[in-house]
Amino acid sequence: MQIFIDSADVLEIRRAAETGNCDGVTTNPSLIMKAGRDYNETLKEICSIVKGPVSAETVSLDADGMVKEGITFSKIAKNIVVKVPMTVEGMKACQMLTKKGIKVNVTLCFSANQALLTAKSGAFIVSPFVGRLDDAGEVGMDLIKDIKLIYDNYKFKTKILVASVRNTNHVLEAAKIGADIATVPYSVFEQLFKHSLTDVGIKKFLEDWEKVQKKK
Ligand code: E4P
Repeated sequence: MQIFIDSADVLEIRRAAETGNCDGVTTNPSLIMKAGRDYNETLKEICSIVKGPVSAETVSLDADGMVKEGITFSKIAKNIVVKVPMTVEGMKACQMLTKKGIKVNVTLCFSANQALLTAKSGAFIVSPFVGRLDDAGEVGMDLIKDIKLIYDNYKFKTKILVASVRNTNHVLEAAKIGADIATVPYSVFEQLFKHSLTDVGIKKFLEDWEKVQKKK
């Protein structure tokens, strides 16, 4: 499973990339607001750090507007993927952009039927939001299971990207189900590397190593 960073913070993205475990980046208007920088400039910098797909989100509500924004984003770098929302207009834009050879990530997916339409519209990526479903009292990961089943049934090529990840358990569950990608906040990315017993183990090995040195 690929791991993307869900961030527009260039420092975080750089740190994640340095680990060799960051396969791509997803951004959205809220993340850009948090980063407080010009969107296109930030995307350009992110694309120079990460070779994998970098999602850039459109804000138009009509298909023509999304396509126009998408074409502009696609000129920033080869690895840009254009994000459109899961709406009727978003599906039209997805088909139009895909025909032009521009990869599309359909975002704000909250149901398996939405994911079905996304795949039928030729999207490169579908982004189901598990955390927001959990917040609403549903079980977000059940949606991932359903989408995986449907996509396998019909051999759809659209990649399942688990979005709105809140914790490492979401990542684990996504991998067990066989999702293609999980996009995670940097805080969750850092936690993926950690286990308290690893720290305890290192401490013990170092203590014993010192004892060996002293005996020499
Ligand atoms: C995905 O592409 C979205 O940017 C993201 O995962 C949204 O997560 P949130 O629910 O934490 O805002």
